[in-house]
Amino acid sequence: MRKPIYDERYARPGLYWGSRPTGLARDVVRLTRSLPRAPRTLVDLGSGEGRDSIYFARRGYRVLGVDISSVGVRKAERRASQLGVDVRFLVRDIRTYRLGPRVDVVFCSGALNNLPRRIRARRFEHFKAKTSPGGINAMNADVPKPYIPTQRTNPFATPFRSGELLGYYGDWQILDSGQVEFVSHSGGVPHRKAMDVVIARKPDPGS
Ligand SMILES: C[S@@+](CC[C@H](N)C(=O)[O-])C[C@H]1O[C@@H](n2cnc3c(N)ncnc32)[C@H](O)[C@@H]1O
Repeated sequence: MRKPIYDERYARPGLYWGSRPTGLARDVVRLTRSLPRAPRTLVDLGSGEGRDSIYFARRGYRVLGVDISSVGVRKAERRASQLGVDVRFLVRDIRTYRLGPRVDVVFCSGALNNLPRRIRARRFEHFKAKTSPGGINAMNADVPKPYIPTQRTNPFATPFRSGELLGYYGDWQILDSGQVEFVSHSGGVPHRKAMDVVIARKPDPGS
């Protein structure tokens, strides 16, 4: 099996992605404050060096971070322990990983493009099925734009089609969706990127 490309990046000193949580993680915390039942458990798919997992754990979530890079997972574990934050991390592949019993939030920032197109619909069905009623899926995915030159910093990633991500949540309540553009430093070369973002809530027949 090929070595995860992020192993080498995460083996460098310092934090490849920095310590500041993603905008998506901050949006989840903000939006879930007003929900009738506060979410308690969260899975962070493609947790990297753990910046978002640690952020959620500090806000009271019981967090499981999963990532294919064992170097990233070990680094995340070390960092959480240094900060005195309780988070569990596992080395797993999100193309095949089966979530355990119901989880309140399935979160994925920056990793969905590693799902090949042919398995995406089935993977989303699984993530949705394992979400508690009234729970949340918060996701983002790279989408190509004709006015942004392509920069392939991860040769194994496949872009989403514009609107594809939202399409997986047609039967859920959309709390937030849209597109963000930003400058990424992934791969060491600053480049513009566009991402589709969705925060969706599973219907809760009991509420
Ligand atoms: C762009 S980084 C984002 C990391 C983290 N979410 C963050 O924002 O700091 C993408 C992450 O997805 C992980 N990844 C890539 N393919 C994966 C797979 N098949 N299963 C699990 N994790 C994967 C990489 O190792 C990397 O840590």
